[in-house]
Amino acid sequence: MIRLETSIGGFPLLNPVICGSGEPVMTEAGIRAALRAGAAGVIAKSVNEQPEAGRQLDRADYVRLDAGGVPTTGRGVSLFNRSGLTQRDTADWFAAIAGIDREARPQGKFVAASIVFAGADGAVSIAAQARQAGLRVFELNVGAPHASEAAPGAIAQETDPDRLTGLVRRVRAATEGMQLWVKLTGLSSNLPALAIAAQRGGADAVCMMGRFMALVPDLDTFAPVLGTSAAYGGGWALPIVCRFLALTRRATGGALPLIGTNGVRSGGDVLRMALCGAGAIELLSVIMHEGFGGLTRVINELESFLAVRDLTFRDLIGRSADALAGYAEQPETPGRWREFVPPETLSETDSLA
Ligand SMILES: Cc1cc2nc3c(=O)[nH]c(=O)nc-3n(C[C@H](O)[C@H](O)[C@H](O)COP(=O)(O)O)c2cc1C
Repeated sequence: MIRLETSIGGFPLLNPVICGSGEPVMTEAGIRAALRAGAAGVIAKSVNEQPEAGRQLDRADYVRLDAGGVPTTGRGVSLFNRSGLTQRDTADWFAAIAGIDREARPQGKFVAASIVFAGADGAVSIAAQARQAGLRVFELNVGAPHASEAAPGAIAQETDPDRLTGLVRRVRAATEGMQLWVKLTGLSSNLPALAIAAQRGGADAVCMMGRFMALVPDLDTFAPVLGTSAAYGGGWALPIVCRFLALTRRATGGALPLIGTNGVRSGGDVLRMALCGAGAIELLSVIMHEGFGGLTRVINELESFLAVRDLTFRDLIGRSADALAGYAEQPETPGRWREFVPPETLSETDSLA
């Protein structure tokens, strides 16, 4: 479907919906299911060089929350979880996913390797292994939300632009000829600076932004749900991501390909991120709420929206971002605030009785 075609820099995609890294794609069967469901590509479950990060999977736990933020045994709309990394041997995992990538390539699809960053030497060595396995895309996640809670050294977050440039430069050297995408944290407000830092280091694209850390108190037990802080995402996150996409597009003059992640639940959400500058999106929670069919639903919704209006996906990239104005540029509308307060605020009554 030409209407849905897009690209990340020079890397063509059949459509903008990429299955993000996570437990649903921690097996070959899961990766194949995501591709069958229509995803343009899959970021396979992340690895890193720290055995502790894999061991953390045994302490992972997950709960679905309803629209009121309350744990539910139903499908839910938000995920609250602590996660861990795959326990598969990295060489074995990369050989397996490279095999699926080779099968997917003639269909115009891809499977990417991913690392959740723990340290520069490990990242360089794992990047080199991905290249050796014949993979075409490497995603370097420097912003996994669990860094603050994980065992010391298991996962690290990089929020310093200069250090990030140095790290990306080293990983770039180990991934010659591959796409190098850098996934940034949601727990920092300097996303545009981090994106520029990644671009300076030689990244082909940045993916933003990771989920947030949260605490969900339980009104029945009065204890924290899951017993710990954990990563939290949901449709509510999308406008926040959109703003950072737009600010980053502006800061980079539109020259750095952007991938949106965190909060996409529908075809309309894919477009919202595209309007703010994303050339593609990575989604995951939808699959944990409704299965791999969620990918097909999102792609179908996207296609119908565009078909009804006879638009292509590319037509829309960056349109809202480029129209974004500042407060001072807005016309003055004195007294507008009065329309948004209760009548008592505006009454003449001045007694407490
Ligand atoms: C259970 C779970 C596990 C995840 N594991 C990883 C991971 O190993 N590596 C990674 O880069 N991102 C990981 N993510 C982040 C997702 O790839 C995605 O960026 C994020 O969930 C936001 O998108 P969503 O709102 O569509 O879920 C994980 C997310 C969840 C919910």
